[in-house]
Amino acid sequence: MSNTSRDILVHDEGGVRTITFNRVERKNSITTAMYAQLADAFETAAQDAAVRVVVLQGDAAVFSAGNDIGDFLQQPPSTQDAPVFRFLRAIATFPKPVVSAVCGPAVGIGTTMLLHCDLVYAGDNAAFSMPFVNLGLCPEAASSLLVPQMMGYHRAAEALLLGEPFMAEAALEVGLVNRVVPPTECNAIAQAQARKLAAKPLSALIETKRLLKQGQTAAVLERMAEEGVSFGRMLREPAAREAFSAFMAKRSPDFSKC
Ligand code: COA
Repeated sequence: MSNTSRDILVHDEGGVRTITFNRVERKNSITTAMYAQLADAFETAAQDAAVRVVVLQGDAAVFSAGNDIGDFLQQPPSTQDAPVFRFLRAIATFPKPVVSAVCGPAVGIGTTMLLHCDLVYAGDNAAFSMPFVNLGLCPEAASSLLVPQMMGYHRAAEALLLGEPFMAEAALEVGLVNRVVPPTECNAIAQAQARKLAAKPLSALIETKRLLKQGQTAAVLERMAEEGVSFGRMLREPAAREAFSAFMAKRSPDFSKC
């Protein structure tokens, strides 16, 4: 697949499709157009026999600051066909292995998309957070289902109700990442693991991933849809509007009336 945008780079080599967030000046926050490119990159990779593994990466300083907040204010997703939901369904149902390399901030969907990756390598500077409540929102990407499954209810409640960042070592302990590595080596390590996977029989990779996820995919899609309805409504409500306006104006939000 040839590259279509400056903000999302897509490069295919040796059976590995590498998708790079490349909007560093905005901390790799993700716009509607970028979600559409991400969805396309996963959907075409699923169909293309030449792509055996996908790598998702930022750079050594930042993975992604989550959804672009200006975009949330100006064009909040209004239907389940919106690019953000299309991307989430594409990554959640992607049949081949997905490897990610995460350094620096991974905020909101920057963390929750990792729940749908198979191998996650984190720089020791990685900071994960799911600050949906702080933005007047609720969890997405089936994180309300998968985070408690992964780390237990109380740690999930802390991560999702307080929304405070947790660092790479804590993410390793709860099982969100496979290994903590030096940030400058993170992308290369993810590539090396992806190349190992790409050399294996694709049919065996696909069948193994299908069995690992069996019984879960339907529940994940159902939860994503339920979260999506609430998330879409809450984006338009006063708490979220106040949180987004405050972020844009670089002030603290005032939730006293929300
Ligand atoms: N949407 C839109 N713009 C964003 C953004 C986002 N999610 N995250 C960062 N930016 C912009 C900042 O407004 C800033 O713009 P400016 O240069 O015009 O001032 C620029 O990117 C650099 O970000 P900055 O906040 O100065 O970097 P930092 O290193 O101090 O902090 C973060 C990095 C990720 C911790 C911080 O930017 C942040 O908290 N971003 C918001 C994350 C968020 O709430 N995402 C939504 C999740 S649902």
